Amino acid sequence: MKDVSPGFFPPISVDDDPSKPMYVQLYDWFRSAIISGRLRPGQKVPSSRQLAAELKVSRITIMSAFQQLHAEGYLKGSVGSGTYVAKSIPDHAVKLTLGDALRRLPSDAERGPRRVSKLGTKFLSSPAIPRGFRPFQVGLPALDRFPRAIWSRLLIRHSRQTKKELMAYGNPMGRLACREAVAEYLSVVRGVRCQPAQIMIVTGSQQALDIAARVLLDPGDPVWLEEPCYPGAVRAFAAAGARLVPVRVDLEGLDVNRGIKRCPDARVAVVTPSHQFPLGMTMSATRRVLLLDWATHNGSWIVEDDYDNEFRFGVRSIASLQGLDTDERVIYVGTFSKVLFPSLRIGYLIVPIDLVPAFSRIRETSDIFPPPLHQEVLTDFIREGHLERHVRRMRALYMERHDTLVAEIRKRLGSGFEVVTANAGTYLVMLLPEGFQDTVVAEKAMQSDISTVPLSICYQEEPRKQGLILGYAGVNRKQIQDGMSKLAKILRA
Ligand SMILES: Cc1ncc(COP(=O)(O)O)c(C=O)c1O
Repeated sequence: MKDVSPGFFPPISVDDDPSKPMYVQLYDWFRSAIISGRLRPGQKVPSSRQLAAELKVSRITIMSAFQQLHAEGYLKGSVGSGTYVAKSIPDHAVKLTLGDALRRLPSDAERGPRRVSKLGTKFLSSPAIPRGFRPFQVGLPALDRFPRAIWSRLLIRHSRQTKKELMAYGNPMGRLACREAVAEYLSVVRGVRCQPAQIMIVTGSQQALDIAARVLLDPGDPVWLEEPCYPGAVRAFAAAGARLVPVRVDLEGLDVNRGIKRCPDARVAVVTPSHQFPLGMTMSATRRVLLLDWATHNGSWIVEDDYDNEFRFGVRSIASLQGLDTDERVIYVGTFSKVLFPSLRIGYLIVPIDLVPAFSRIRETSDIFPPPLHQEVLTDFIREGHLERHVRRMRALYMERHDTLVAEIRKRLGSGFEVVTANAGTYLVMLLPEGFQDTVVAEKAMQSDISTVPLSICYQEEPRKQGLILGYAGVNRKQIQDGMSKLAKILRA
């Protein structure tokens, strides 16, 4: 019989019930463990000698139970080769117990919904973000152009020998070498001023937003969110119990005066100033100064989500809010999900130095510290210049893919479908003319294997613009053309 890994052998429970001989109790236990699946087909059973010692009974007792189980087809094997659970269990036994089990289970309709938290219930009704590899998937970089050979070489370098120091619990802020490399990269690429001691390595910007929300807010505290806004930010701040105050964006980004009128003493403002998500505008210099001023005078915090600032095509990069901040009011969030790949789950937070202990303590309530292996790989990837090279190449490629998508939209749909583009990032927004409902279009597109995010789900209040967010970074020219051809058909129908 083929060996199946023994796995964990479940504890055998027998008692001292004098009315039932021990070998019968053992027989019953094995039979029910096999039928219920706790013992898997082909799984090795401990020897009679081992079991006798463990259960403190004679070997004859064990062998009597085994004999019966062999006879009924539950166990197989022979002296010398060991004893195994049979590959096929007698039919009558399975049918009987499965039927019994199903009869005992109440149906979902009978039982009704079971109680979870209010937050859990609320999130159940929030729209799911599509994941996968379909054309126009938002947030997907060009995985086909990622230098996988280099990454694999570095990964092998670091995984060949498991260093003892990497096996213990680590610093909640992340590994120092990685934070030093990230600090260097940020000062060159993004004009961010920080010391490695201020950097916390996190598992993507979603965790950064979650930790920031829990450090900066008490339940009920008001928070300005851009309207429309990144749904992940809405979720993180709602989960922390914040009172969400949507503040409309216009061509200059978040309308600070509108925010002040609506809720002057918000505790936090969450913004995407380099490239507003999802509408793409850059926050003007005047608004940046106004926002920093408001935060300073009000003792409020600014969370700057700078999720894709590396990719700007022909437009100058603007200094981050964090770089302009003289009162240490900005908590800066960044990610390697777009620059490298999303399953890496590495992002970073830059926090004012006096807040580092609070951020560390709150981080320890969830995953304690980031796993070290990929931090080591990333450190070398940055230090050896691969990251800078890759970003430069991707910037050129994304510009090309962006232009292809814009041209395809114009060619196939004409001027009725306005394209909102910032010449930056990895996605754009195509507005839908009156009469279209973006959620319906997105659902139909998904049926044709085209992934889009309806713009309207990014709004908290009415009116909601109708449009589709289309990712272009992860699709080549041919996929863009085929995808737009399908999408145009759906829209014309
Ligand atoms: C504005 C914005 N912030 C954050 C993220 C999430 O990034 P991460 O994968 O690092 O959690 C995204 C992903 O698309 C995004 O668009």
